[in-house]
Amino acid sequence: MIKVAFFDAKPYDIPSFEAYGKEHDMTFRFLETKLNEDTVELARGCNAVCVFVNDNVNAAVIDRLYEFGVRLIALRSAGYNNVDIRAAFGKVHVVHVPAYSPYAVAEHAMALLLTSVRRIHKAYNRTREFNFSLSGLTGFDFHGKTVGVVGTGKIGRIFIDICRGFGMHVIAYDLFPAKDSGIDYVPLDELFERSDIISLHCPLTDETRHMIGEASIEKMKKGVVIVNTSRGGLIDTAALLEGIKSRKVGAACLDVYEEEADVFFEDRSGHIMNDELLARLISMPNVIVTSHQAFLTEEALNNIAETTVHNIRSCFDNDGICDNELCYRCGDIEHCKKQRKQRCF
Ligand code: NAI
Repeated sequence: MIKVAFFDAKPYDIPSFEAYGKEHDMTFRFLETKLNEDTVELARGCNAVCVFVNDNVNAAVIDRLYEFGVRLIALRSAGYNNVDIRAAFGKVHVVHVPAYSPYAVAEHAMALLLTSVRRIHKAYNRTREFNFSLSGLTGFDFHGKTVGVVGTGKIGRIFIDICRGFGMHVIAYDLFPAKDSGIDYVPLDELFERSDIISLHCPLTDETRHMIGEASIEKMKKGVVIVNTSRGGLIDTAALLEGIKSRKVGAACLDVYEEEADVFFEDRSGHIMNDELLARLISMPNVIVTSHQAFLTEEALNNIAETTVHNIRSCFDNDGICDNELCYRCGDIEHCKKQRKQRCF
């Protein structure tokens, strides 16, 4: 029986994981707390840990897990910037869920964008109080506008299709442009200069951290709308706030926030908000914040549970080779063992 310590468990996670776990001879120790150096002890006695986006799986945590005999870190997310995969190499295998519903995230990005530009959030509150005034609710047509998409992977491409359905002109930037995709790739600076709307769909890496900052905002069109459903660290929040205050940025739609780990996914309504930047952002009429919920559809939750249980099983079975294993060498053609259908180490 495989025992899995499941950190940052939420009520919506449990039913699907319990069901798939039972089918595959696996038990989950559901823990409400996040994984970090103070809580790692809770994984003692388990063979694997299952973590989400705000668990902090740094080198110290990995060493403790290894010491307890934990041999697998199963991310139930696509992004893995919160796991030190270099420190894990040779000790603890790491698996993730590369795709569970790219539609969920792309559709949420468009939902945020429509809500913001057509002022649906304002109208909703007004009509509930029988205020039927239209003052201040003027939006703009999407048709004919230029949208700049950064990152044309699974989610970015679906978002592009959605935008094309609205009659928008799409330009894109990707470090690895997709060949023969019919996507109009431009250099990043040109994307910043030409776009009416910018939507981020690339991973958070050392290279992409704060790609939206003072210098890039300076290059953008006045009134640009920025959408981030990828990772908070892509945006320098203080610079974004300045851009909004100076009216350079027309609106921001944020499903992620660089300091989200302390606040997102929790009910903080009875607390004083200590994060001044977030509080100021939320107070802006042209900023919409959702708390990392872009993935949250029934289809996605089901796929996440199914793939994660499959990942765990295949890593423990028959010295299983798991397609969804990752390490810092993945993608490096010379050293990547996975490309030769082997384990990362
Ligand atoms: P993907 O791996 O299919 O696509 C990422 C794309 O970004 C690739 O085409 C890659 O070449 C490109 N890229 C890599 N480095 C880049 C750089 N420096 N500049 C520009 N492009 C670069 O990933 P997918 O599934 O489309 O997910 C995108 C991101 O969405 C993930 O990294 C994750 O952080 C975020 N995400 C957010 C969720 C949410 O609930 N808000 C849920 C799932 C993913």
